[in-house]
Amino acid sequence: MAAPKAAAEPHRERRWREFHERPLEEKLPLFFRDGALYDCLFSQQFTRESLDRLCTLADRMRSITKEKSGDDFLQSLLSNKRAMLYFSQPSTRTFLSFSSACHILGLRVLEIRDLKTSSVVKGESLDDTIRTFSSYVDLVIMRHHEPGFVERASWGLNGTQRPVPVINAGSGADQHPTQALLDIYTLNRYLQGGLDGKRILMVGDLKRGRTVRSLAYLLKNYTGIHLSFAAPDAFRMQPDILDFLNRHDIPYEETDDLLAAVEKADAVYMTRIQDEHDKSSGDSKKIDTSLFHFTQKHLDRLPENGIILHPLPRRDEISPEIDDDRRAVYWRQERNGMWIRAALIATIFGLEAKILAKK
Ligand code: CP
Repeated sequence: MAAPKAAAEPHRERRWREFHERPLEEKLPLFFRDGALYDCLFSQQFTRESLDRLCTLADRMRSITKEKSGDDFLQSLLSNKRAMLYFSQPSTRTFLSFSSACHILGLRVLEIRDLKTSSVVKGESLDDTIRTFSSYVDLVIMRHHEPGFVERASWGLNGTQRPVPVINAGSGADQHPTQALLDIYTLNRYLQGGLDGKRILMVGDLKRGRTVRSLAYLLKNYTGIHLSFAAPDAFRMQPDILDFLNRHDIPYEETDDLLAAVEKADAVYMTRIQDEHDKSSGDSKKIDTSLFHFTQKHLDRLPENGIILHPLPRRDEISPEIDDDRRAVYWRQERNGMWIRAALIATIFGLEAKILAKK
């Protein structure tokens, strides 16, 4: 008997697959318009120059809002625009900081945080949902559980009658580029002499942590960086990132000895175990991660000018007692997220020069 024919791939799916499978370097220019950032989807879109500019703009916006007149000025800039915050995964700080960043620029915000409240439950495709957003708003900020879907949203909107920019606020276990931007901003603010030449230690679930992946990509823009990875065997940094570091001549080491690694670190980047990605619920709990918790004994060995970051939320990988040490910068890090995201939105809307020129 002849084997049944495979179902033909729908035309749109084929076009998307062909686009998605193209090498990233080939696709990156498509996320810019007239040389300026349009969609923010991948950390690989940023250069040293664009990162420095974003950090400068974030600093400037912080300082402008110290005066009410400056705050009013910034709020006037996008008061004729609207943004959609579409979050299919839970979020506290990314959602709130993006919301606040929009408020800083006067951008009004609409939101969907639970897909059950959208017409997806009536059978609408996600492509159509995203296209619907663009009928009402001027910017889509989205977190999605499926890796690649944020890129698909941008691809789908490209070429429609009303394309709007898309910002990736976290996609599966893949990337979280705006978290990496705020990490870079934080590292630059609190490391003496800035990031160049520094030793960064990443700890925890490096396999499924999209923040460490995105940050590793951004760190290639700095000179003399050394990376250390401390993770349980099951959660070691993935070969694609190690390969990326090798290709860019960024030295790294993998270690089980957290204490020794902390002693040499300029910055310790802690992460929680990302058990939302477990194949079966509770899988991660079977793994002993206690050797990768940051405790008082690690704090005692951290260099005087060392700093501790965490993208948050945390569980037991850093105890709250550590929070009181001046080197724990993670609460400032989350506030920095609001400023760098405001700077990013301002950049996408072409407002950088206007803001920097403000007296
Ligand atoms: N760091 C981060 O993405 O936090 P949320 O999940 O709370 O947004």
